[in-house]
Amino acid sequence: MLYENLKAFPKDFLWGAASAAYQVEGAWDEDGKGISNWDKFVRIPGKTYKGTNGDLAVDHYHRYKEDVQLMAEMGMKTYRFSVSWARIFPNGKGEINQKGLDFYNDLINELIKHRIEPILTIYHWDLPQALQDEYGGWESRQIIKDFTNYCITLYQAFGDRVRYWVSLNEQNVFTRLGYQTAMHPPGVKDDKLFYQVNHHASLANAAAIKAFRSYVPKGKIGPSFAYSPAYAATAKPEDVLAAENAEELTSHWWMDVYTWGTYPQAAWNYLERKGIAPKVEERDFELLKEGKPDFMGVNYYQTTTFEKNSLDGITSEGHFNTSGEKGTSEDTGIPGLYKTVMNEHLNRTNWDWNIDPEGLRIGLRRITNRYKLPVLISENGLGEYDEVDEDGSINDDFRIEYIESHVKSIQKAITDGVEVMGYCVWSFTDLLSWLNGYKKRYGFVYVNQHEEGEYDLRRMKKKSFYWYKAVIESNGENL
Ligand code: NOJ
Repeated sequence: MLYENLKAFPKDFLWGAASAAYQVEGAWDEDGKGISNWDKFVRIPGKTYKGTNGDLAVDHYHRYKEDVQLMAEMGMKTYRFSVSWARIFPNGKGEINQKGLDFYNDLINELIKHRIEPILTIYHWDLPQALQDEYGGWESRQIIKDFTNYCITLYQAFGDRVRYWVSLNEQNVFTRLGYQTAMHPPGVKDDKLFYQVNHHASLANAAAIKAFRSYVPKGKIGPSFAYSPAYAATAKPEDVLAAENAEELTSHWWMDVYTWGTYPQAAWNYLERKGIAPKVEERDFELLKEGKPDFMGVNYYQTTTFEKNSLDGITSEGHFNTSGEKGTSEDTGIPGLYKTVMNEHLNRTNWDWNIDPEGLRIGLRRITNRYKLPVLISENGLGEYDEVDEDGSINDDFRIEYIESHVKSIQKAITDGVEVMGYCVWSFTDLLSWLNGYKKRYGFVYVNQHEEGEYDLRRMKKKSFYWYKAVIESNGENL
C-alpha cells in the first residue's frame, strides 16, 4: 500500500541486489587468474573464522547462469557485482588474461538477456598481490596509473553494454581495516599511512572517473561510500561538536574529495597538527576536481553515536564495523576528539549492529543537501544466522522486517526530495563473509555452504525471496 502523501518510487527505479567477486566467485586460481591480497591473507592462520576462504566461495564462477536465472525469477531490475582485478591482469598490469574478460562478458550478456541491468563495481577489495609486493599497492602513487589502466580495459571491454559503474567500494572501510585496525590485508596499523593510502585511492578514483568520460560517455559512475551518519549522544554542546567532528572525519573526509576535490578544513587542520595529514603534490587537487562522480553510491547498514571523549585515547563499543566482527572495539586513530557510544534507543542485530531505518533517511538527506548528487543505495541488508527448517523452508522474517523498514524510509526520503536511483540489497545469494565464513548470511537465496561439515552448494529460496519479488513487481507499493 502506498502511504498517503508519499511519492511513488520512480518508474525506472533499480530494484536489485549486490555481491563482490571474492565473496561469491571461487575459482581462485582458475583460467589464468592471478593471486589477490585476499588469497594470501586468508592463508595466515587465525585471520578468518575457522580459516574460511574464498577459494570456492559459493562457486558463482561456475554457477552464474543458475544464479542469474534465480534473479530473473525474482524480477530483479539490476545486479551489482564486482570484477576481480587479478582475473583480468594476473600481475595487476601488463598482459591481459582474455579468459578473465570472457567470464565477465558472459555474465553481463546473461544478465542483459534476462533484462537485468548490470552495475559493475571495479574494485571491491581484492587487489592483485603482485602490486602489493612490488610497491605496496595503495601505499604508492604508482597505483594511480595501474588502476586507471585496469579501468580503461574494463571500459573498452564492457562499456558498450554496462551503463552503471561503481569505482571504489567502501574506500573508507578497506583502508581503515587494512591500515588502522589490521583486520584486513595488508594487516597494518599506521595512522599516517592510512591517510596517505586514502589520498592515493582518491586520486586513483578521480583519474578513473576522468578517463570514463571519454570511454563511456553515456554511462554513469560513482564511488560506493560506507556511510554511517553520526548522531550526538546528548544535546550537550560538547557531544554535538563530537558528532560534527566525527561526521567530518569519518564521512566528509571522503565524500568532499569525491565531489569537490577538497578536504574538509577543520579535519585537515586537525590532522596536520597531529602530523598525519597526507602528503599532497602540486597538481593533486586539480586532478581530484576533474573526477566528479555522477552519483554517490551509499552502503548503509547503521548509524554511529558519539560523545565527547574526556580521555586522551579512544575506546568504543557497538560502533559501525563492516568487517562483521561482533562487538570489537575500534581505534579511529584520532584520540581526544570523540568516542562512540551505544545508542540505547535502537534495537540491535545478533551481530550487534544497530537497526536504524530512520538513519538511512537522515543520511540520504544529508548527502542531498551537501553534495546535490543523485544517490544509488549500493548496499543495505541484514546479516544473520539463517536456519533451514525441517521442511526445507527458510523463514527469515527478521530480514523481511529489516528490508521493509528501510524501503519505507527510502520512500520517505524520495518524498523529501532525494533523488534515489536504486536499491541494491546485500546480498542476492548467501556469500562468504570476509572474516566470518558462512555463519553470517545476508542472501535472499540460501546456499548450502558451511565452514565445516557437508555442503553441496545447493541454492534454496528464503521467504524473503518471495517477499522482495512482490515488492519489485509492485514497484515498492506492495510492502
Ligand atoms: C560491506 C562490503 O562492501 C561487503 O563486502 C560486506 O560483506 C558487507 N558490507 C557486509 O559486511
